[in-house]
Amino acid sequence: MIDKNKTLGEIVLYYPDTVKVLNGYKIDYCCNGHETLAVALERLKTDDSEVIKALQLVVDHQDGSKVKDWQNVSMAELIDHILTTHHVYMKESLEELNYIVFKILKVHFKSHGEQLLKVHHLFGTLKTELEAHLVKEEENLFPMIKAYEVSGSEAIKKDIKKFINDTEEEHDAAGNLFKEIEQVTNDFTAPEDACTTYRRTFDLLGALQKDTFNHIHLENSVLFLKLDD
Ligand SMILES: [Fe+2]
Ligand SMILES: [Fe+2]
Repeated sequence: MIDKNKTLGEIVLYYPDTVKVLNGYKIDYCCNGHETLAVALERLKTDDSEVIKALQLVVDHQDGSKVKDWQNVSMAELIDHILTTHHVYMKESLEELNYIVFKILKVHFKSHGEQLLKVHHLFGTLKTELEAHLVKEEENLFPMIKAYEVSGSEAIKKDIKKFINDTEEEHDAAGNLFKEIEQVTNDFTAPEDACTTYRRTFDLLGALQKDTFNHIHLENSVLFLKLDD
C-alpha cells in the first residue's frame, strides 16, 4: 500500500515504476526526495486520491523480481552502477546536445529564435555545471566514499559530509535548470513545423531530464543515506 508518510525517495526506491506517475504530476522526487508524499500532495492542485490511486495501480502491477534492491548493495557497487549508467549517458547526451542545440539555433533562428536562444543559453549553463559536477563526483566524492567504506575512518566521513552539502546544492541547481528548460520547450514538445533535428533535440533534453532525476535520486536518497546507516 502507498503510505503518504513515506518520503518520495523511499517510494521511488521500493517502487521504481512510480517515477512515471510522479513525473506526470510534476512531483519532484529527486531534489525533494526527503519530502513525504503527504507534503508533496499538499502543494498539488490535483485531487489527492487521484494521485494515490495512480500510484497504487503501479505498485500493484510491479514485478518485484525485476526491481534491484539498492538498499542491500555496497556503496562501491552502487557508485559503479551510477558511473557506468548515468554518468556515461549524461556525457554522451551532453556531447550530442551541444552540437544539435547550436545547429537548430542557426537553422531555425528566423522562425523560432526567441525559444531557441533561451534553450541555447539554459543548455550552455546546464552543460557547464553538470560537467564540473560529474568530475567532482568522479575524482573526489566517490573515491572518498569508497575509501570510507573500506576503512570506516571517521575523519574521512566528516570530509564526505561537507562535500555532500555542496553536491546536493548542485543537484538542486541542475534540477531547477531542467525545470526552466521544460517550461521554455513547452514540456519538450517541438513546434509543428520542426525538422528532425529540432525534434531530436527536444526528445533528448526530455530524456536527459528523466535520467538525471533518477540519477540524483540514487545519489541523494540512496547513496548518501547509506552513510548514516
Ligand atoms: Fe552523479
Ligand atoms: Fe550528482
